[in-house]
Order: sequence, then C-alpha cells, then structure tokens
Amino acid sequence: MEKTYKVGIVGATGMVGQRFVTLLDKHPLFTPVVLAASARSAGKPYREAVDGKWAMAAPIPAYAREMPVYDAEADAKKIAAEVDFIFCAVNMKKDAIRAIEEAYAKLEVPVVSNNSAHRATPDVPMIIPEINADHLAVIEAQKKRLGTKRGFIAVKSNCSLQSYVPLLHPLRQFGIKCAAVTTYQAISGAGKTFDTMPEIVDNVIPYIGGEEQKSEEEPLKIWGSIQGGAIVPASGPVITSQCLRVPVSDGHTAAVFVSFERTPSKEDILTAWAQFAGEPQKLGLPSAPAQFIHYFEEDDRPQAKLDRMTEHGMAVCAGRLRKDVLFDYKFIGLSHNTLRGAAGGAVLLAELLAAKGYF
Ligand SMILES: NC(=O)c1ccc[n+]([C@@H]2O[C@H](COP(=O)([O-])OP(=O)(O)OC[C@H]3O[C@@H](n4cnc5c(N)ncnc54)[C@H](OP(=O)(O)O)[C@@H]3O)[C@@H](O)[C@H]2O)c1
Repeated sequence: MEKTYKVGIVGATGMVGQRFVTLLDKHPLFTPVVLAASARSAGKPYREAVDGKWAMAAPIPAYAREMPVYDAEADAKKIAAEVDFIFCAVNMKKDAIRAIEEAYAKLEVPVVSNNSAHRATPDVPMIIPEINADHLAVIEAQKKRLGTKRGFIAVKSNCSLQSYVPLLHPLRQFGIKCAAVTTYQAISGAGKTFDTMPEIVDNVIPYIGGEEQKSEEEPLKIWGSIQGGAIVPASGPVITSQCLRVPVSDGHTAAVFVSFERTPSKEDILTAWAQFAGEPQKLGLPSAPAQFIHYFEEDDRPQAKLDRMTEHGMAVCAGRLRKDVLFDYKFIGLSHNTLRGAAGGAVLLAELLAAKGYF
C-alpha cells in the first residue's frame, strides 16, 4: 500500500479551505487530521465554525463535522506535532501570511500554499504541476535559507492565469511574441457567493485589486529558470491583461489574443493542446486529469456553467480558436477557479511533492 500522510488544513473555514475539506474526503494519500482557522473559529466543532457560510454543493463530509477547529497561530506548535504537512489558504495581511507560513516551515512542516504572499519570493517555487514541476529543485536552497531539514513553502499560482497559461504553454514552441488577455472571473474567487456579494447580480465589476499585475507577472516566474538557488523569471513574452468580476459562481473564463515568431497553423495549435501532458499525467497522480486540455468544437463553448467541472474541475477547457486581424490567433479558455485554480491545484501539487519525496 502507498504511504499516506497526515494533513492540516489552515484556513479550513474559508472558501478554499472548504474545498480542501471536501476534496480530501477519502483521498487515497492524504488524511486531514487538523482543521485550523482564526481565533474566531477556534475551539468550535467544524460544523459550527462554518455554520451559515458553508458554500460547497456537497454537505460537510462526515469526518470533518465534529473535528475541533484549532487556532492557526496560537496552536501552531501543537499542529506541527500532529501533521506531515499543511495546506494553507488564509485571508490575512500579506506580512502576516508570510510570517505564519515561514513559522510553520521553521517548525519543520512543509507548507503547500494558496496564498499570494510568497509567490514572488525567489526561492519559493510557484508551481502548475503540468508546466514547471522542475522548479521544485529550488526547495533545497530555500531550506538552507530557512535553516530547516524538511520544512519549506511551495505555492500555486493565482487562479486567473490557470485559464490561459496552460493554453499558452504548449504554444511556446512557436515563439510567443505577446498576448492580450481579458479574464471574466467568478465570485468564488473573492471568497463570495451570490448571498454575500449581492452587488454582482446584473452587473460586471471592472476591477479586481492586484489581479492584473499577478496575471501579467506570475506567468514569467512559472516560465523562469533556476539560477544560483533562485527562480529567475523569463524575460517574455509580454502579457497585457484586464480582469473583470462577473456574475458567475465558479469558473474563470479568459479571452486570449496571441502573436507568434513562427505562426503555427490552427491544426498545429490543436495538436499541441491535444498532445500536451506533464508530470502529473506521467506519474498518474490521483487528482491529475487524464487529458489536461479539452478543446470544444462548438462555437458557444466552453461555458462556465456547463464545462467548469470537466475532469472533476481539474482540466483546462479551450474553444473558439480562430485567426485574428491584429494578433495571429484568438481563443477562449476556462478553468474552475476553486478546483484547478485553488484547492484542487494545491492538492495536485502536494501529490507531486509526495511522489518526488519532498514529504
Ligand atoms: N477563492 C479562490 O478562488 C482563491 C483562489 C486562489 C487563491 N486564493 C487565496 O486563498 C486564500 C483564502 O481565500 P478564501 O477565498 O478561501 O478566503 P476566505 O473565504 O475569506 O477564508 C479565509 C480563511 O482564513 C482564515 N483566517 C482569517 N484570519 C486568520 C488568522 N488571523 N489566522 C488564521 N486564519 C485566519 C479564516 O478563518 P475564520 O473563518 O476563523 O475567519 C478562513 O478560514 C487567500 O489568500 C486567497 O487570495 C483564493
């Protein structure tokens, strides 16, 4: 039987934390043994801590209902003694997140993070497992800096770019010159539901704080290389983006325009997407989609409501690939923001770390 790991979920009461709690119900490798959140929730049974804010379609898994919620900060030492690693998805100031994640790493607990606080830290790998699994090698340098034996931080990227970077990546062989992207982002990306964000009904909000910068800069770190114990971002391609909040519960859509050094045919692009597979597919990781990129031939697909759950919400969908008058091509991308874009992507990253011996 494969080794299994005891897991803590820090931020377990939040939108992403609830996804972790749901996804890890009967996970073949990971058993949640600790649920932690702020002092506001600490001491309550989990079902009481999420009362009135449970946002998943499925009910609270039976294993979690009566688990006591720990205080992520005050109980850190106790938590560290009980787990093999933690998932972290908390809503705190960036400095506080950086501090709490480093504190766990220094307590010799690997941290698989959904937060943005450490995404720019040069020796913290920011991983989309199909694209840059090789960046895990920088963890050794990070451990040296932190003075740890097994504690480290690995992060996943922002949810917006999961809807287009996986589609651009297999096309880098044609020399991407530049791309313009507009994202249409679901309200769960802000930790909201239609009940808690009534202002989004019948509306589009043309601003998501910090999102455009992340959408333009994070791809360059993902496409970067390890040099001297740090990840040096790639110098291109230039990506310009606009990020809009739209009245959709789950699923970020991206409208993408792209130009190349060597313009491929439409068939070249479709073949590159169809054939693209990464480490998760090669290793047969439990949460890996069998086919990473799904192309829809229908003119009105992919749609958030119909297609976000493709391969349990872990695939990336594409459609409407066609020539453009200003750029070479344009197309639509879609990914589930709290599955592939958040908790699911982090679970896949943890499966990769487990398979590569980092736990
Ligand atoms: N939603 C998405 O699609 C998405 C995607 C990618 C990344 N993220 C990132 O994931 C993180 C969580 O997002 P979310 O949408 O799940 O937020 P959320 O629904 O607001 O949940 C926040 C969680 O953080 C906990 N928390 C707040 N202050 C804390 C403290 N001082 N100590 C310990 N825990 C504390 C909350 O606990 P209480 O319930 O006790 O307050 C709750 O469990 C954020 O960094 C966000 O940027 C979100």
